[in-house]
Amino acid sequence: MTNLYLNGEYLPLEQGHVSVEDRGFQFGDGVYEVIRAYHGKPFRLSKHLARLEQSVKGIEMALPEPLQKIEEVCRAVVKGLEEATIYLQVTRGSAPRVHAFPREIRPTFVAYARPATRPPDDKAYTLKTVPDERWGRCHLKTICLLPNILAKQKAVEAGCDEGLFVRDNVVTEGTTSNAFFVRNGALHTHPADHRILNGVTRDAILELARQGGVRVRHQGVTLTEAMAAEEIFMTGTTTEIMPAVSIDGKPVGNGKPGPVTLKLRAAYREMTEKECV
Ligand code: PDD
Repeated sequence: MTNLYLNGEYLPLEQGHVSVEDRGFQFGDGVYEVIRAYHGKPFRLSKHLARLEQSVKGIEMALPEPLQKIEEVCRAVVKGLEEATIYLQVTRGSAPRVHAFPREIRPTFVAYARPATRPPDDKAYTLKTVPDERWGRCHLKTICLLPNILAKQKAVEAGCDEGLFVRDNVVTEGTTSNAFFVRNGALHTHPADHRILNGVTRDAILELARQGGVRVRHQGVTLTEAMAAEEIFMTGTTTEIMPAVSIDGKPVGNGKPGPVTLKLRAAYREMTEKECV
């Protein structure tokens, strides 16, 4: 099945090849997006593309194609798949290896889709705290994911599902997800500044919380506050809303997914079903 778009051409995924001198490969010089499609329709595509635009600008590049064309590509690669994730990547392109931007260079643009499933209802995360050692521009969705990967691996090796980044004693986000904490009935999440990736799912959850009358505070929580939270959940395009039931082996609340989390999870499911018809 044709599900890859590479620099202007549609081809089967296995036939996509990129140069060994691509700057994405050699320097991590690029950005990406992950988009979920439900019933064959990309969810909140315009938000993902707006963030892609912000990310390319943030690394002093331009979009490889007009937004409308990228949107068309997303819809094309997902064709034939009901439930899918779309991966988009833009790198500065391929040129003989020098650190500064080469003058004559065309970006490499890749988009493809793979089948996906929603996380099972009975799944909940166990969290391990990890030092947030990333750079100062976490709001850009760059492919330089080494700190995220190393932190995730640490969590996995400790028998946990996700790493919870802590910087200056404040919880920022997960290694591949945003973090939410329920304290005194109000939802707390780190403000969308340069220390976190402003998740498209995070944004949808904030919308649902407002609609559902849940109080929201755009405020990071300390590790001690996180440990004492009534509920914790993580959000992301593929993660959706995932209850977290322990941090470093200590139970969150009563150790079970809480009512605010479950209510928002149901509302999020409904939102994806409503918007992707
Ligand atoms: N990751 N924070 C980080 C560090 C992430 O990597 C992600 C998503 C999120 C959630 O963003 P969104 O809701 O827009 O997916 C937050 C993607 C899915 C990934 O790298 O696979």
